[in-house]
Amino acid sequence: MQNILITGGAGFIGSHVVRRFVNSYPNYNIINMDCLTYAGNLENLKDVEGKPNYRFVKVDIRDEEGVAKVFADYSIDGVIHLAAESHVDRSITNPMDFIKTNIEGTVVLLNAARKQWGSNFEGKLFYHISTDEVYGSLGDEGLFTETTPYDPRSPYSASKASSDFLVRAYNHTYKLPIVISNCSNNYGPNQFPEKLIPLVISNIQQLKPLPIYGKGLNVRDWLYVEDHAQAIDTIFHNGVIGETYNIGGENEWKNIDLVKLLCKIMDSKLGREAGTSEKLITFVTDRAGHDLRYAIDSSKIARELGWKPTVTFEQGLEKTVDWYLDNKSWVNDILSGEYANYYQQQYGGR
Ligand code: NAD
Ligand code: TYD
Repeated sequence: MQNILITGGAGFIGSHVVRRFVNSYPNYNIINMDCLTYAGNLENLKDVEGKPNYRFVKVDIRDEEGVAKVFADYSIDGVIHLAAESHVDRSITNPMDFIKTNIEGTVVLLNAARKQWGSNFEGKLFYHISTDEVYGSLGDEGLFTETTPYDPRSPYSASKASSDFLVRAYNHTYKLPIVISNCSNNYGPNQFPEKLIPLVISNIQQLKPLPIYGKGLNVRDWLYVEDHAQAIDTIFHNGVIGETYNIGGENEWKNIDLVKLLCKIMDSKLGREAGTSEKLITFVTDRAGHDLRYAIDSSKIARELGWKPTVTFEQGLEKTVDWYLDNKSWVNDILSGEYANYYQQQYGGR
């Protein structure tokens, strides 16, 4: 029996990872630690709630005592650390939340793991989930590899980069067994509608303007969330201690092209006249310090661990759009809560 702590399991990616582990590994106890910020939603995990190998603990990763108690009570062997403040725009208006959760919270978890495990690291692993944004921004050419020098440029990516360095430092200094992965942009069901794809789907449904920052020429490499969860499973079980793995979709899109594609899909799904949604596209003031392009070279994980994405962008977008159309109450609950204030602040009256 292994006791695995997944942090941030009530969030977007975390909920897919929790579901995968609970269902695939009945011999593991999965402990989901999440303090349920605006981005955490237990609705995401309704289908696993009653499973005997699943527990939820409402604990903030910044709470040293609370975290230490969970490590001791559940005799944690493995950690998959996803809890974070994750939205770049929020990091621009409120950097300190990112410093406290992403940096300090990670150190609280590292310290708890060290204390719990002592010097016997047999069967133990601290797996830290990070982002490709730590590598900075690319021009038109090139890909991020695991050896690309870090060059974070937003408070979000700087906080994630700091946490990556701290995780590596605990490996180097204290021999804590760690592994890190840096993934490109995820999309799929349960993503909070502040991120581009669910925001556009939700606004099209409501016939609201689709805000495109700058000229829409920024490029992101999109990966379906379940492919990320599968990569995390692969790395957790087969990754080499101390190593870093880049995870990407080999699926680069300019924002404007992606939004136009979503407009076409949505017109057809909603039975609206072709071109209806595109008319909602509205160019707005660019994000401060907006990184131009992210793109991942994931040949290391393909070569060494045999992982590759399995869901095409066409299939993934179809599944995603269908999920949002079938789960209107999930989105409506969010739109009617605290998020309404954020939206007003970020996009004004649009
Ligand atoms: P998310 O914002 O949807 O979810 C974050 C979760 O962490 C929420 O459930 C929230 O309640 C929880 N959380 C936040 N602060 C906490 C705290 N102090 N204590 C306990 N729980 C806390 O994020 P996501 O998009 O699912 O991202 C998960 C992880 O993956 C993050 O570490 C992020 O940096 C990384 N990542 C995300 C992407 C992406 O495209 N979304 C890409 C690469 C890496
Ligand atoms: P986002 O989903 O916030 O992810 P990230 O910033 O982590 O890549 O944004 C994806 C891209 O879409 C990014 O280039 C910013 C852009 N964007 C818009 O043009 N308009 C929006 O309203 C949002 C939220 C993002």
